Amino acid sequence: MFEKLLSPVEIGGLKLPNRIFMAPLTRNRAGDNDEATEMNAAHYAQRATAGLIVTESMQISNRAQGYAYTPGIYTDVQEAGWKKVVDAVHAAGGHIAGQIYHAGRISHSALHGGLPPQAPSALIAENTKCFIRGENGDLKFVPVEMPEAVTLDDIKVILDDFKKAAQRAVRAGFDLLEVHAANGYLLHQFLSSNTNIRTDQYGGSIENRARLALEVYDTFVGVIGDGKVGMRISPNFNINGIADQEWEAMTFYLIGELNRRNPAYLHIAEPSWVGGDAFTDAFRSKIREAFKGKIILAGSYTPELAEHVLEAGFADAVAFGRRFIANPDFVARVKHNGPYNELDKKTIYRRGMAHGYLDYPTLADVQKEGA
Ligand SMILES: Cc1cc2nc3c(=O)[nH]c(=O)nc-3n(C[C@H](O)[C@H](O)[C@H](O)COP(=O)(O)O)c2cc1C
Repeated sequence: MFEKLLSPVEIGGLKLPNRIFMAPLTRNRAGDNDEATEMNAAHYAQRATAGLIVTESMQISNRAQGYAYTPGIYTDVQEAGWKKVVDAVHAAGGHIAGQIYHAGRISHSALHGGLPPQAPSALIAENTKCFIRGENGDLKFVPVEMPEAVTLDDIKVILDDFKKAAQRAVRAGFDLLEVHAANGYLLHQFLSSNTNIRTDQYGGSIENRARLALEVYDTFVGVIGDGKVGMRISPNFNINGIADQEWEAMTFYLIGELNRRNPAYLHIAEPSWVGGDAFTDAFRSKIREAFKGKIILAGSYTPELAEHVLEAGFADAVAFGRRFIANPDFVARVKHNGPYNELDKKTIYRRGMAHGYLDYPTLADVQKEGA
């Protein structure tokens, strides 16, 4: 029934058994040193039947953190934590790409020892919140703060932090690396016309605004090798203070630049999951015609819609987010045409909590109970 979804695909030199990918999902369940733990390893390993897992965002430095208890990739302890995750996924037969990011202005000084968030320009994200550590160590949802505009020297440090993070990710054993240029975080803040009002080589024209994301991409290639780096973008995204009049032109500029390189894939997060309009097939087709490499689409996909975009050739794989939270064996369930567990919204973001993270039952568990 879902023949395309369940068919193998080669991406980034990896032979993957199906086209049902796990989307990056931040869950705020890192340890006290913002390191991935045994619990995180168990969670990802449970989902290793996904054709490819893309990890939750890993911050490149303490200053790059946007939410409390997210796993970083800038200390030895964090590198060892991610190695546990990667080893567990590989042992379970899966493949895993590491998504690396800087949250930019979607952040708060409490996350970095009193230092303000960083951004291309000193513009605050209105009506936007992030998590800090509350009084008892639990998550506290607070408005983001006014960022500081980064200098050219700061950008050099940030690029170096991206490089070191990529080196650690390679040592941890990730199969592929993903540049997170989506969802309103630092690289997207550079891309977007309303958040980047710089007048130097990183602002103004589309080419200048795209510079940092492409420099990060090229840096990653220098670390892990050609063909092993993907990029995630979110065209027409409109939360986290993003309101880019030029999103379409930027999308096709980036596609053109990536075509001159050899990316593992282009990962496109459609805006429907955050209240935006779903992409039309005409738009998906335009992207398909423009981009020469592998395309992963994500955003409110059902297995039926995913099969459709694969069938039509608009994508090579589809990434599922919330369905993978609630269904560790999502692939088996698609094969079986359901049923699916419901998502428990209360346990999505919870520090240290195994409930809602490790205990969603598999189909086999449910059948056992029913027997
Ligand atoms: C709880 C949660 C955490 C997320 N964390 C990330 C993240 O760390 N990086 C990212 O690029 N997208 C993140 N996303 C977006 C998802 O990757 C995906 O694009 C979105 O959930 C839409 O897919 P879905 O409708 O299948 O859930 C997150 C979404 C949710 C619901």
